[in-house]
Amino acid sequence: METLKGKTAVVTGASRGIGRAIGAALAREGMNLVIGARGKEALEATAQELSQQHQVKVVPVPCDVTKQADLENLADTALKEMKKVDALINSAGVSSQSPFQDQPLEDIERLMYTNYFGAVMLTRLLINHFIENREGAIINIVSGSALVDPPPRGFIVYSSLKRALRAFGKGLFWELRDYGIKVSSILPGVADTALTSGLNEISVDKSRLISAAVVEDAVRFALSVPANVCPLEISVINQRTPWTRPVIPYKQDHPEE
Ligand SMILES: NC(=O)c1ccc[n+]([C@@H]2O[C@H](COP(=O)([O-])OP(=O)(O)OC[C@H]3O[C@@H](n4cnc5c(N)ncnc54)[C@H](OP(=O)(O)O)[C@@H]3O)[C@@H](O)[C@H]2O)c1
Repeated sequence: METLKGKTAVVTGASRGIGRAIGAALAREGMNLVIGARGKEALEATAQELSQQHQVKVVPVPCDVTKQADLENLADTALKEMKKVDALINSAGVSSQSPFQDQPLEDIERLMYTNYFGAVMLTRLLINHFIENREGAIINIVSGSALVDPPPRGFIVYSSLKRALRAFGKGLFWELRDYGIKVSSILPGVADTALTSGLNEISVDKSRLISAAVVEDAVRFALSVPANVCPLEISVINQRTPWTRPVIPYKQDHPEE
């Protein structure tokens, strides 16, 4: 396993939830961070806390991943401040639960630019840096909802965009492996975060959820293994997670219930 100490990661969506848990885990390993999210106050508080707790450099860059200029500023600041970036973790994301016929167009656009284009464009902005260095890692936080077919009812836009992100990562994995660059998709089941707290039927039973913290292990693993054994995908799901209902009948797999 490779050491992460002294390396640098750019993490989007790092001010709360899964992105924050990932940032904290990497800071604990001694990684320096450039973190992005829209809310300046929470982002700066996160940066201060992580840098003080773990004696690493953490640069907060307020950034809306739906805006190209913000993404350019995030990538430029990371390269200027850190000189070398070793990993990009695309975790910024939003959710939405709606029957498709009622879903506002603005909501569809927000999902598309946050959950798909934001990650693709930031990857594009950093990819030549990784290629020049002949190393680097890209990790996309996809979704366990992409594992089930058909996409879960009420989440078809969210889930189809996560499928697109998963497909993007798969293509990139093969395209970049000759440069020694790792690309992994992490597919978390429903996690106990702000993103899911308001969803109907999804977050009511906490025993069916995962904690944001368990995604950290998958990220640390993907970052620590050598490039020639890079995991293409890691699913981190609670088998009782609501997304798995279409494929894993609870009663059959959990006779104790
Ligand atoms: N929670 C789950 O059950 C679950 C399951 C599978 C996959 N995921 C995926 O995991 C990722 C993180 O989800 P989470 O549960 O940690 O959500 P969360 O707790 O709501 O955190 C989302 C983070 O993303 C940032 N963010 C949102 N929109 C942004 C934008 N336009 N530009 C920049 N930053 C933005 C938020 O900060 P600001 O609001 O301040 O910008 C926050 O830091 C998402 O991609 C989500 O789809 C979550």
